[in-house]
Amino acid sequence: MENQVSVLFVCLGNICRSPTSEGVFRNLVESQALDFEIHVDSAGTAGYHIGQPPDSRAIAAAAKRGVSISHLRARRLNRRDYEKFDYIIGMDLFNYQDLVSMEPRDYKGKVCLFMDFASDRDLQEIPDPYYGGHDGFERVLDMIEAASLGLIEDIRKHRPNL
Ligand code: 4NP
Repeated sequence: MENQVSVLFVCLGNICRSPTSEGVFRNLVESQALDFEIHVDSAGTAGYHIGQPPDSRAIAAAAKRGVSISHLRARRLNRRDYEKFDYIIGMDLFNYQDLVSMEPRDYKGKVCLFMDFASDRDLQEIPDPYYGGHDGFERVLDMIEAASLGLIEDIRKHRPNL
């Protein structure tokens, strides 16, 4: 759709943080009846888990908050994503640097860091929960929920007609 805003969440594996962000943000978009106006997707900078569903701990933690992500499948970021998406959002500084280093010259200015949208500006990065325990996934969800509220505000600010 011509006036649609498109958002791509990016982490390393596309099985923990970015599919969780996709699910949380999509729920928020739907709750504000913006699902025709805002397109949401996720991808990983690495290809370790292509075609796999999200990590079972991420699926369980999201489900407890009413967010369904079990149908999502991991994919790797590609060059066309820079053309297609308006917001390309990294979870941590490592993702951010990777995204900037792959950025084609014609599509600069789309890469950002998810926590830059959160009102609590002390936390810059959403930590990788993959090698930690279950509480890591709860913390990641708290951060994603906070950043999602700021992101939707930012979209509304830039597209007041939405
Ligand atoms: P994600 O977490 O980047 O949030 O999806 C990870 C998933 C898998 C691996 C690392 C991080 N891995 O090394 O396989």
